[in-house]
Amino acid sequence: MPTCTSSTGSTELRSLAILGSTGSIGTSTLDVVQAHGSRLTVVALAAGRNRELLRAQCEAFRPRCVSVGSKEDADWLRATLSYRPELHWGAEGLLACALHADVDTVVAAIVGSLGLISTEAALRAGRRVCVANKESLVVGGALMHEAALAGGGELLPVDSEHAALHQLLDGRDPASIREVRITASGGPFRDWPLARIQAATIQEALNHPTWKMGPKITIDSATLMNKGLEVIEASVLFGLSADQVAVTVHPQSQVHAMVGFHDGSYQLQVCANDMKLPIQYCLLYPEKQPGPVAPYPWDEARAWTFEAPDLDRFPCLGLAFQALREGGTAPALLNAANEVAVAAFLQGRIGFWDIQACNQETLSRIPARPLGSLPEVLDADRTARRHAEGWVQTRA
Ligand SMILES: NC(=O)c1ccc[n+]([C@@H]2O[C@H](COP(=O)([O-])OP(=O)(O)OC[C@H]3O[C@@H](n4cnc5c(N)ncnc54)[C@H](OP(=O)(O)O)[C@@H]3O)[C@@H](O)[C@H]2O)c1
Repeated sequence: MPTCTSSTGSTELRSLAILGSTGSIGTSTLDVVQAHGSRLTVVALAAGRNRELLRAQCEAFRPRCVSVGSKEDADWLRATLSYRPELHWGAEGLLACALHADVDTVVAAIVGSLGLISTEAALRAGRRVCVANKESLVVGGALMHEAALAGGGELLPVDSEHAALHQLLDGRDPASIREVRITASGGPFRDWPLARIQAATIQEALNHPTWKMGPKITIDSATLMNKGLEVIEASVLFGLSADQVAVTVHPQSQVHAMVGFHDGSYQLQVCANDMKLPIQYCLLYPEKQPGPVAPYPWDEARAWTFEAPDLDRFPCLGLAFQALREGGTAPALLNAANEVAVAAFLQGRIGFWDIQACNQETLSRIPARPLGSLPEVLDADRTARRHAEGWVQTRA
């Protein structure tokens, strides 16, 4: 079972590009940088539309390279910043930040398959890439490892379950491992009957019980598509088959992942549910520095529960296993359909239950092809988006 990094570790200053600095992961990353100022420095920041927050981050961290979604916002930043960084915009800007000569570590924290090209390019250019953007791994699959191998890049997972697995699997003999299990909180509809889930509103779906995250991943958590994407992500990162990755619902979100061995025993990773912890793990790997959360309060009384996911009420999870088994571009097709469907749901154009219907329809109608080159994967992504958008229009 290949692991997703080969770092030997060091104590040097790490110079970061944070792609998606204004989002939930991006702002938590900046908190970690602030706490480890002697080890981490910000060279580049990239965001989309939140120019006010990006400006404030620039004034606080003084990155030399900055990118924003549009030329108009880049001009606005040029006019309002108190210093003169390199300013870029759009997709080119993401690449300029990721590939800046002074950057050695890229935090990939933009949302959606939009992150694919910058993640691949950073790995190919030999950077350490701390990937929160699971969609790029789901879509790019083995191409991400190929890029890392070709350019000497290093892939570390920020997703809490995968950072947990990375810690559990580090140095393990792959032959001793029977399965890995990632946990799911179950989302806001864990206890709801099917009919109520089918009619869920945007507000209800955005009301996640344990994690405060961006809107796309929050909806994915309500459909359990997020867990499905994470199953594919685990398979890609650790070279596991669909039969070796399982999901356990654990509403308390304190156990993040488990590794099961052939002798029937399991090892679990436990910590508070704060994304700063896996972010710090990736940035400073292989060191374990103090913070950012208090040691686990074992002496406080608490109960943990574990249950199997219900694929009838959460069919998106089953679709992810189906796409993983099918292989090739199937995960990219599913991911693209889901991005279109979630955006349409958040715009009020389709209902909650339509998300799984759109995903199912697209996956069944568009044939998967072998995973070829990056342009071929991007082509599959575009084809699935067109199909899903057409489907949404018939429903809206
Ligand atoms: N949040 C979590 O706890 C968590 C946990 C595990 C994994 N993840 C993964 O991490 C990724 C980010 O999630 P999030 O919750 O942080 O999302 P988020 O809060 O919605 O943030 C998304 C970030 O991407 C930027 N962005 C969006 N479109 C862009 C574009 N066209 N060009 C440049 N930047 C763009 C946004 O910029 P603006 O806001 O300026 O438009 C924002 O900085 C997702 O793939 C998610 O699945 C998140």
